[in-house]
Amino acid sequence: MNPYSEIVQEHYRHPRNFGALEKPDIRHELANPLCGDRVRIEVALADDGRVRAARFQGDLCSIAKAAASLLTELIVGRTLDALPDEQQLVDALRTELKPSRRKCALLPLDALRAGADAFTRR
Ligand code: FES
Repeated sequence: MNPYSEIVQEHYRHPRNFGALEKPDIRHELANPLCGDRVRIEVALADDGRVRAARFQGDLCSIAKAAASLLTELIVGRTLDALPDEQQLVDALRTELKPSRRKCALLPLDALRAGADAFTRR
């Protein structure tokens, strides 16, 4: 039996927003040092500072891929100071995660935050 929730399985099999944006305002790539998996997150902002579009690419395990897919959906319409926190993203996956798998789930969020921090410091 698959230990992961239907949400994880669905986003893993049919990832949303996989790919790249033509002119992203934010682009950040991050690797999980434990396994070497990598994710790249791209975000385009509207004039009012809200996320207009988000994309991801990467070489990712099932949890990280599902989390990246879900994250790119969750952030559309939000400002950079109102991004989901770690628990909100983990809760949205609706799956019990061991600590190592939690790191997988948070890799895309860590990449997004690092990119958003760099953008706001510009
Ligand atoms: Fe590498 Fe999950 S095993 S991010």
